[in-house]
Amino acid sequence: AANKSILFLPGDGIGPEAMTQVRRVIEWMGRERSVSFDLDEDLVGGAAIDAHGVPLADATMEKALNVDAVLLGAVGGPKWDDLPFEKKPERGLLRLRKEMELYANLRPALCFEALVSASSLKPEIVSGLDIMIVRELTGGVYFGEPRGIEELPDGQRRGINTQVYTTNEIRRVGDVAFDLARKRSGHVTSSEKANVMESGVLWRQEITKLHQEKHSDIKLDHMYADNAGMQLVRNPKQFDVIVTDNLFGDMLSDVAAMLTGSLGMLPSASLGDVDANGRRKALYEPVHGSAPDIAGQDKANPLATLLSYAMALRYTFDLAEEADLVEQAVQNVLDSGIRTPDIMAEGTKAVSTSAMGDAVLAELDRLNG
Ligand code: NAD
Ligand code: IPM
Ligand code: MN
Repeated sequence: AANKSILFLPGDGIGPEAMTQVRRVIEWMGRERSVSFDLDEDLVGGAAIDAHGVPLADATMEKALNVDAVLLGAVGGPKWDDLPFEKKPERGLLRLRKEMELYANLRPALCFEALVSASSLKPEIVSGLDIMIVRELTGGVYFGEPRGIEELPDGQRRGINTQVYTTNEIRRVGDVAFDLARKRSGHVTSSEKANVMESGVLWRQEITKLHQEKHSDIKLDHMYADNAGMQLVRNPKQFDVIVTDNLFGDMLSDVAAMLTGSLGMLPSASLGDVDANGRRKALYEPVHGSAPDIAGQDKANPLATLLSYAMALRYTFDLAEEADLVEQAVQNVLDSGIRTPDIMAEGTKAVSTSAMGDAVLAELDRLNG
């Protein structure tokens, strides 16, 4: 069989710093477990703007469409914030999601026992937390038309975005959520604002219909998105799988991040449909951004990006044992008290991004015997 292929897109800010540590783990996998990949690397975001004048070159898009998995660091930063909208770093990422048709973004929020005290919430609220947010990723207000900024006759300006969902867009992400719940605790919470938005009404109707037609073995309930934000910090363990739209999913997953101790801990997988070659298009990336406030200081937590690679091992490459190994190594390193500054707690030791990478590699060696 052809070698497994991964496209590396480190991007901007702390993206490349975290991806350097992931690359070391990938090399370790090749050496110690004979799990090797054809690795290609390219530019996205501000780095691509500086080199090519666009946040994602067509040639890079082409590569992304032809690999087994894309691994992305982060995009964006103050240097590019004032560019016109179509040229911003973030457009590079949005183009990848849209053209790869990655409509289901899986954002697991899992609180490692060692990090219970790093969360801003009380220990009993987050201890044992394991929830999965399924965020719709290629529709909604992120892509709806019309959009733009227009001049009004009276000299004012008007900014326009459109929230729009179709039946199929709702059903396909709903299927993903129900199927995930079936392998977990069998409970889906669907979240929208059907009290205010027609797209929310349609969302609720379609999820309800889909549930009756195909997934009645799963427990389904509906919750307005504002309440869901509140419930996530009040009692997050009431949730198993949350399925929601693009914008609400963006916000709810950053909220969920803090339950786990740090945004620097949250990985994600963005998945599309299985194509004619039996390949499911996939992009793996941390939930966090380029963190300009700490970029270049060897301070970033690389674990969200590393855990995203573990998700690639599990979901794209069917290498559950290797994925478990990476996750176990992360857990043991955290248990031993080694921490990047964002997850510090009493009695733990602050280390750099690269020293966190060292610790994970040492633990992989130990676990692998
Ligand atoms: P951010 O996620 O980059 O940072 C928010 C806060 O969390 C910062 O204080 C940062 O230092 C901290 N943080 C984030 N990741 C961390 C890590 N791994 N280790 C330690 N601390 C971490 O969000 P922001 O500041 O709102 O956005 C900065 C830039 O990143 C913007 O240009 C934004 O558009 C972009 N962004 C990109 C992505 C992505 O590439 N997927 C996601 C979110 C934001
Ligand atoms: C994320 C980010 C992106 C989003 C930005 C950078 C386009 O915040 O992946 O969560 O809003 O989807
Ligand atoms: Mn976000």
